[in-house]
Amino acid sequence: MDLRELHVLHWRGAHVACATVPESRAGLDVFLIDTCQRRVALLRGSEHAEQAQAEFPADGVLESFEGNEAYAFLLRFACGLESKLVAETEIFGQIKVAWRQFSERGSPLARQLSPWMQLLFQDAKGIRAQYLGRLGSASYGSQVRRLLAAPESDGAEIAAPTLGPTLLIGAGQLAQSVAPWLTGTELWLWNRTIVRAQELARELAKRAEKPVRVIEGGVDAELAAWRAADNVVVCVPGDPAHDAARIAAWRGGAGTDGGARRGRIVHLGLGADGIAPWSGLPELVSLGSLFDMLRSQSELRARQLQRAHHACREKAVLRNLGAGCSQSHSWEDLAAFYSL
Ligand SMILES: NC(=O)c1ccc[n+]([C@@H]2O[C@H](COP(=O)([O-])OP(=O)(O)OC[C@H]3O[C@@H](n4cnc5c(N)ncnc54)[C@H](OP(=O)(O)O)[C@@H]3O)[C@@H](O)[C@H]2O)c1
Repeated sequence: MDLRELHVLHWRGAHVACATVPESRAGLDVFLIDTCQRRVALLRGSEHAEQAQAEFPADGVLESFEGNEAYAFLLRFACGLESKLVAETEIFGQIKVAWRQFSERGSPLARQLSPWMQLLFQDAKGIRAQYLGRLGSASYGSQVRRLLAAPESDGAEIAAPTLGPTLLIGAGQLAQSVAPWLTGTELWLWNRTIVRAQELARELAKRAEKPVRVIEGGVDAELAAWRAADNVVVCVPGDPAHDAARIAAWRGGAGTDGGARRGRIVHLGLGADGIAPWSGLPELVSLGSLFDMLRSQSELRARQLQRAHHACREKAVLRNLGAGCSQSHSWEDLAAFYSL
């Protein structure tokens, strides 16, 4: 497959992502990548692009890219440059998992895309190493760790967090990536499906960094953990049926030393909207406020990101000149770069 035939559709919007790579509703041979911030479709040619629009939610704008523009978009996507948490690293793993699931289906598109996906992973790693390595870790886990370690910059409402137990709610993809970053004397895990929390506990125990305990015993045990934990990190969506009880339990609790509450709730399942009934809690950091914090980037960080964006465009032009080509090597190539 020639890179000129690559067609990519992109829908941006917060939604609950599918746990496995979605099958095409229209019966098309299309590679769909679904994350909580977007849905992306990869197709061969634009022949079926109109039909493929049915794979996306009806609201919002659908962007369309072809050829090297499509490859450049995929590179930005894989490098985390399209993510709200700019340059985050989880997205690379999510795309790899999605690709593995899609390629196992063995469709003609899976075979045609295969060499391009390998180049994409190689180029994304190169760009990350060259331009984004010194940005500092940009995983959700690293940001949560920073939040739990640092007192509020204005120092007004929240005292410095303590190092008592941290309660992690959830055992899905996000919880798994955040868990290893959590500090505290002990890590408590609660999940609706208890076996998933037990699996996560076993994984974490292999690292043996701190004691890990699974909270068993239903809703009462969960609420008791909300009362007793110093910090809570929530990696499940907001839940209208249970959130009020969770908030009441948090408010009813005290710090591990018996004094006033000093920790934080970091709720990654709450987007910019839908904060109620959490908004009354001064200790709350939602995903939206985490993004806002990160938006106040230093100039240096902005310059590095600009260079990474440029590198994605440059790599895509080079790949369009020939799959094996990764460095500019002739006078003709200069014409292609003139427009960058
Ligand atoms: N993945 C990311 O990079 C990312 C980034 C930012 C924000 N988020 C948000 O974080 C949340 C979790 O995402 P994820 O990627 O970890 O999803 P996931 O892998 O599908 O896991 C979903 C988690 O939420 C739990 N859950 C779902 N509905 C629930 C309900 N009604 N009551 C109690 N628990 C429920 C699941 O419990 P069971 O095991 O019992 O099903 C599981 O622990 C979502 O709100 C997502 O929008 C994710």
